[in-house]
Amino acid sequence: MSIEQANCIRRFMRICEDGYKKGWHEANGGNLSYRMDAEDIAVCKPYLSVKTPWISIGVSAPGIGGEVFVVTGAGKYMRKVGIDLSDNVGIVEINSAGDAYRVIWGFEDAGRPTSEFESHLLIHEVCSELSGDADRVVYHAHTPYLAALTTAFQVDSRVLSRVLWKSNTECIIAAPEGVGLLEFTQPGSIELAQKTAELMKDFRAVVWEGHGVVACSETFDDTFGLIDTLEKAATIYAITRAMRGGDEAANLLSDDQLRVICEGYGLEPNEDFLS
Ligand code: 13P
Ligand code: ZN
Repeated sequence: MSIEQANCIRRFMRICEDGYKKGWHEANGGNLSYRMDAEDIAVCKPYLSVKTPWISIGVSAPGIGGEVFVVTGAGKYMRKVGIDLSDNVGIVEINSAGDAYRVIWGFEDAGRPTSEFESHLLIHEVCSELSGDADRVVYHAHTPYLAALTTAFQVDSRVLSRVLWKSNTECIIAAPEGVGLLEFTQPGSIELAQKTAELMKDFRAVVWEGHGVVACSETFDDTFGLIDTLEKAATIYAITRAMRGGDEAANLLSDDQLRVICEGYGLEPNEDFLS
């Protein structure tokens, strides 16, 4: 067996490829991290060994102290993950204080975790606690339609959530709590990490204005599916307005219809975002 055959690594590689095929990962755009469980670590153990000293992270996330993550590298291309895994991806262990990491596999050629590592770790900390240890995947993608919505219009979390919900029935099913919106914040910054983690207390996906989207959920499929559904709704909204020569769509789902959908699926929508 090689480490590429471990289930968690196969699924990790699959998301990188799927996201690239979707057109969400130009150049080094986007990044992915996975919090390994005990079985994943046991399966990968023969390949793991300490490769670097402890390296300071810049934030402190004691809630995920001692955890082990698979993560894409800074400046690395999602397109290349399946071609050369150990160059583009690493496995890192976090110290017990949650403020330093060391590489235990991969990142050959002196690589290091994504420039959004602080965001990933603070999101993992918030979401693993809120989900009772269930959430394990954080995925950031440069989804063109979600990003375009934030450049075409001035939106906040409520406006953006309503536009997405009303464009397609599946959106409120995937995200009944809505979607968070973070105004422009420097990519790769600690400010971005802290503000996103704060929004993640209320939402499982946050759109970064003029940039893309980040989401957290239990499995690779759930997390990819959530972003895919949001991006599809944003695409439908854009197509609909284009069909109308730029005017607002004539037949968006009504608030009553959104409530009916939620009742049918036993979901509780975010009432603050309904009228
Ligand atoms: P990395 O190459 O450091 O992952 O950065 C890509 C990106 O999308 C930054 O937001
Ligand atoms: Zn990005």
